[in-house]
Amino acid sequence: MQMRALITGASAGLGAEFARQLAADGFALVLVARDAERLAALAARLPVETEVLAADLTDAAGLERVAARLRDGDRPVDVLVNNAGTAVAEPFHASAIDEERRVHELLSWVPLRLAHAALPGMRERGRGGILNVASLAGRMPSGTYAAAKAGLIMLSRSLHARYRRDGVAVTALLPGFVATEFHERMGVAPDAVPRAGWADAATVVRDGLRGLRRRRAIVVSDWRYRLAAPLIPLVPDRLSAGVGLGARVEASGARPPISDADRSRR
Ligand SMILES: NC(=O)c1ccc[n+]([C@@H]2O[C@H](COP(=O)([O-])OP(=O)(O)OC[C@H]3O[C@@H](n4cnc5c(N)ncnc54)[C@H](OP(=O)(O)O)[C@@H]3O)[C@@H](O)[C@H]2O)c1
Repeated sequence: MQMRALITGASAGLGAEFARQLAADGFALVLVARDAERLAALAARLPVETEVLAADLTDAAGLERVAARLRDGDRPVDVLVNNAGTAVAEPFHASAIDEERRVHELLSWVPLRLAHAALPGMRERGRGGILNVASLAGRMPSGTYAAAKAGLIMLSRSLHARYRRDGVAVTALLPGFVATEFHERMGVAPDAVPRAGWADAATVVRDGLRGLRRRRAIVVSDWRYRLAAPLIPLVPDRLSAGVGLGARVEASGARPPISDADRSRR
């Protein structure tokens, strides 16, 4: 039987890599992000049936179109990858509150909304998987991004515990720094993180999909971060706060190069 996955944030970074790896596993795909052209270009390169669903997930109508697709029992979605994400580049005291709200919704409300749309059908069919791309940042008090990711981790654990017995796996994937467009969009130069700290997207995605197949509640990727993870609770809060994006952007004096253009699209 043809399995199908819906991936949010599929136009770049981890999302595009999820699309490639799930296609290689034979999944039909539904690709979601704002940039329709990039999604179409990716779809054209994938050797599987692929739908493009261009939507801004922070727009209520866009989000509901994706939720409706997940509820469509005629073309069921077996795996939901809640991956779309960004962060606020400015430190908390200088950020725009509308931007804080938009990012918080994208990281926290959107995955909840989409899981809520997908889960009843998965339960009825007695199988399904939801992979929530959180972050190791969700384990440290390092800003509003971390706060939203902490909420997503807790949501994943709750759904995992409750719906496992119904055949639905829910996994939170916790990467460290991954080489994607994410930091560039925030204006953080790649050298703001030591070279050895960057994980590659292919490894992170492979770890996440393996964890979902094995029905793990939490997956930390990759091996360096699995080694470091137990030490995180020992780090004093004032040091964790300095790891946050806002703090790094502030320290480097960088201007976010993409967020202005991004904002004008919203
Ligand atoms: N990179 C890291 O170091 C890192 C570490 C830990 C966790 N993560 C998490 O991994 C996930 C993927 O990030 P990434 O590193 O792959 O970043 P990325 O390369 O910047 O990709 C982000 C994706 O999200 C989409 N997106 C952003 N805003 C959206 C919106 N309003 N509606 C729909 N789609 C939207 C973007 O597409 P469009 O611009 O076309 O909409 C893009 O496809 C995020 O949840 C992020 O928090 C990343």
